[in-house]
Amino acid sequence: MSPYSPGKPIDEVKRELGLDRVVKLASNENPLGPSPRAVEAVKAAAETLHLYPDASCFSLREALAAKYGLPMNQIVVGNGSDEIIHLLGQVFLGSSDDEIIVGDPSFVRYDAAAGLANCVLTKVPLTTDMRLDIPAMAARTSERTKLMFIANPNNPTGTIVSQVEIEGLLQSVPSTTVVVLDEAYFEFAQGAPGMPNSLDYLSRFPNVVGMRTMSKAYGLAGLRVGYAFVSPEISDAIDRAREPFNVNILAQAAAIGALSDDDYVARTVAMNQAGLDRLTALFKETGGTPYESHANFILADIGRPAEPVFQALLRKGVITRSGHVLGLPNCLRVSVGTPEELDIFVESYREVLA
Ligand SMILES: Cc1ncc(COP(=O)(O)O)c(C=O)c1O
Repeated sequence: MSPYSPGKPIDEVKRELGLDRVVKLASNENPLGPSPRAVEAVKAAAETLHLYPDASCFSLREALAAKYGLPMNQIVVGNGSDEIIHLLGQVFLGSSDDEIIVGDPSFVRYDAAAGLANCVLTKVPLTTDMRLDIPAMAARTSERTKLMFIANPNNPTGTIVSQVEIEGLLQSVPSTTVVVLDEAYFEFAQGAPGMPNSLDYLSRFPNVVGMRTMSKAYGLAGLRVGYAFVSPEISDAIDRAREPFNVNILAQAAAIGALSDDDYVARTVAMNQAGLDRLTALFKETGGTPYESHANFILADIGRPAEPVFQALLRKGVITRSGHVLGLPNCLRVSVGTPEELDIFVESYREVLA
């Protein structure tokens, strides 16, 4: 297994390159900062740090259940959705014959779930327009396929698959294959025509897991809260496998605060759309090919090796992601920042290309 390589931290880049100003557009965080409601909730919860957190995340699951119209026993909460991916691997993968199917490229932590279980990892290439190839993933599925991960929107491409494709997939795979619809970027994509919603499939397909996170549109990446919509049986299985106190006291409080802040999410989504439009125009104008993103980042083929561009941007204090590590050597992935951060990116990018 290769270790996860996170986006470079701001302080490290400042230290290494002797820079005062560094803009991080590498980890798809929320550039608005946290919701004030989350900050207030954390301050209040700080008075109770001597206590263990609620092991069942009761109040947070209650808030999620009310928001999404699901019974509480169909919601699980994790220390980021990363933990839920890990737990799904532990629960559903047992023998070296077991298989996980993922897109290629897609979110790298799915590969780790396979690696940790020492099972078969089948990576299905994306279509030419950089979308997950759902019919091809369905065709590869067999009785031994225990898990399939569909990141929708996909990371690192930002592209989405449709309701029609997901319906077709769910009709065709064995009921013993758990299909994880990873909707980490759902809030950014939900207005897009044909965009599926995992909540619509749960009652008909108990093998569906819908996974979301508080790290992106809800701005709580640093506290680590992810959640999933699951059947009561899957909830029970995950409950047995997880650590008892997997979600800490501040994270639970902040998540409840942030969930109530619709205005913050609306501002986030509006700013993101303006940023996506701006970055799309920039990449087109400079001879690149941006892929249609429905997330809070954009991937573009910049028509030349991206690694030197990534390095040159870094020297100017702008952290992006080079497609080099993703098997897409001509691609750059850029998270949408604030308008001011994008001013800096746009200017630096033009200078680097000149
Ligand atoms: C598709 C996808 N799923 C899951 C995650 C993990 O999110 P978290 O563990 O912060 O909830 C990410 C993070 O970038 C992601 O891109």
